[in-house]
Amino acid sequence: MDKISVIGAGSVGSSLAWLILINKLSKRISLIDIDEDWAKGIACDLNDSRFILKSDTFIEGSSDYSAVKDSDIIVVTAGSPRKPGMRRQDLLKINAGIISSVSKEIKKHSPGSIVILVTNPLDLMVYVALENTGFSSKRVFGMGSSLDSSRLANFISQETGVSVKDITPLVMGMHSKDMLVSKQSKIGVFSIEEFIPAEGFLALKEKTCNRGKEIVDYLKKGSARFGPAAAVVEIIEAIDKDSQKIIPVSCLLENEFSLGKFCTGMPCVIGKNGIEKVLQPHLLPEEKKLLSESARSFQESLKCLTD
Ligand SMILES: NC(=O)c1ccc[n+]([C@@H]2O[C@H](COP(=O)([O-])OP(=O)(O)OC[C@H]3O[C@@H](n4cnc5c(N)ncnc54)[C@H](O)[C@@H]3O)[C@@H](O)[C@H]2O)c1
Repeated sequence: MDKISVIGAGSVGSSLAWLILINKLSKRISLIDIDEDWAKGIACDLNDSRFILKSDTFIEGSSDYSAVKDSDIIVVTAGSPRKPGMRRQDLLKINAGIISSVSKEIKKHSPGSIVILVTNPLDLMVYVALENTGFSSKRVFGMGSSLDSSRLANFISQETGVSVKDITPLVMGMHSKDMLVSKQSKIGVFSIEEFIPAEGFLALKEKTCNRGKEIVDYLKKGSARFGPAAAVVEIIEAIDKDSQKIIPVSCLLENEFSLGKFCTGMPCVIGKNGIEKVLQPHLLPEEKKLLSESARSFQESLKCLTD
């Protein structure tokens, strides 16, 4: 790949740039942040590792959006953290404002790029980016459910002793504590129940839903960075290699589940064009209910944005 841009050089953005450099996924990385000195400082530090890591990936730090020109992929991690006393709706409005202005810059400077959103609240941010870039929904989607799936796989592996490589986790829906952790996840070709009793799986489900908060509670300042960066790299590699890999991403559903138009996490086939196909897994009755609650919650948040 010739160029990947990362908007937001904070914890996730800088960890992602580091992984792209280590894995030599792109010749150039443009690292953009509202704080130009910060972006430049991170870029200098990362570039200093090129010789040792034998990587020709070069990183440019800037606050000027013209630096994202002609990117193959743009990953958006820019956002404001939730401050003490701030309501969820307030954060939603602040980050929607950021994503809306970032999206307009992307449209202006790199109209052919694939855009991967990371900023929370993810599903709403994907929608805001779609509206403001006007790009096809195949080229604008979010990383969330794949991180949640990786977290579930980690817990199943720890519980059963089976290698993470043999676990097929299935997490869909909202990227929030109300995510849809499916008991249709598999261990090898076996159903979960063959390894873990129902109440055991419920406990793992809860741990998965609370993992983001658990990390925030430990860190006290900041949130997850390595897991999110790895999850974005998985998507970048699938695009780069046109691998047609199934990865759950936050995508626009047009009315696939008769729930209207909204963004949520669904397993998708990812290839060189971004989302090659949105898959529709068979949902159990309780999963259908949860998905329809996601759709309702999405519409409520959207209304809050326009009020
Ligand atoms: N989707 C996921 O699974 C997932 C996982 C982790 C974090 N997140 C989200 O990703 C976002 C970033 O997390 P982080 O831990 O890296 O935060 P962070 O605070 O470390 O970094 C955010 C960066 O964005 C920059 N920024 C703010 N406004 C900007 C603007 N208008 N233009 C350019 N840059 C701007 C800030 O200066 C900062 O450097 C947050 O919204 C977080 O909730 C999502």
